[in-house]
Amino acid sequence: MASGNGSNLQAILDASAEGSLTDRARVVAVVSDRSDSRALARATEAGIASLHVGAEPDQDRTEYDRRLAEIVAGFEPDLVVLAGWMRILTTEFISRFADKIINLHPAKPGELAGTRAIERAWQEALAGERTETGVMVHRVPDEGVDTGPVLASETIPIELDDTLDVLTERIRRVEHRLLVDTIRALCAQPKEITA
Ligand code: GRF
Repeated sequence: MASGNGSNLQAILDASAEGSLTDRARVVAVVSDRSDSRALARATEAGIASLHVGAEPDQDRTEYDRRLAEIVAGFEPDLVVLAGWMRILTTEFISRFADKIINLHPAKPGELAGTRAIERAWQEALAGERTETGVMVHRVPDEGVDTGPVLASETIPIELDDTLDVLTERIRRVEHRLLVDTIRALCAQPKEITA
């Protein structure tokens, strides 16, 4: 699930196409809440089902999440990857995919939750308040924003002469690797057999 550019989605698609993701997994669908998300075009280019699920006027978050969950459930996913999904999910959605949702956030665990995390880290570094930031992949057990059990994290230095673009690029490279590595590790675990 992705809202924006989809570079992390692309990392997953590339790893999958190269055979370096795992032979136990394939991307079954890409869903975006935004019709202009580049992620949808990337999915189409890769020959993967891509769906725009837009919020209708006056639709509340619970109603939207119910509709979203129905659509996602139709693909019977074993893993739901939030790769730049910019809407906060409600319990309505999360409870349908217990233990299956993971999220990527461009900050260290417990830091800079919410939007513009890279920019905020960079501004804090400019102000002399930090010298590093990070990336994490975590499970999404509830409505908490950028919280939840951490599956992987990595610290990333902020250099004195970094522009925001340079720092963003450094973070993206780590995100792409960490997300693919985490998915691979999760797929290596035995699948729970449900009755
Ligand atoms: C990433 O920084 C991710 O951590 C955050 O949104 C961004 C998505 O980037 N949640 P992209 O669309 O995958 O390029």
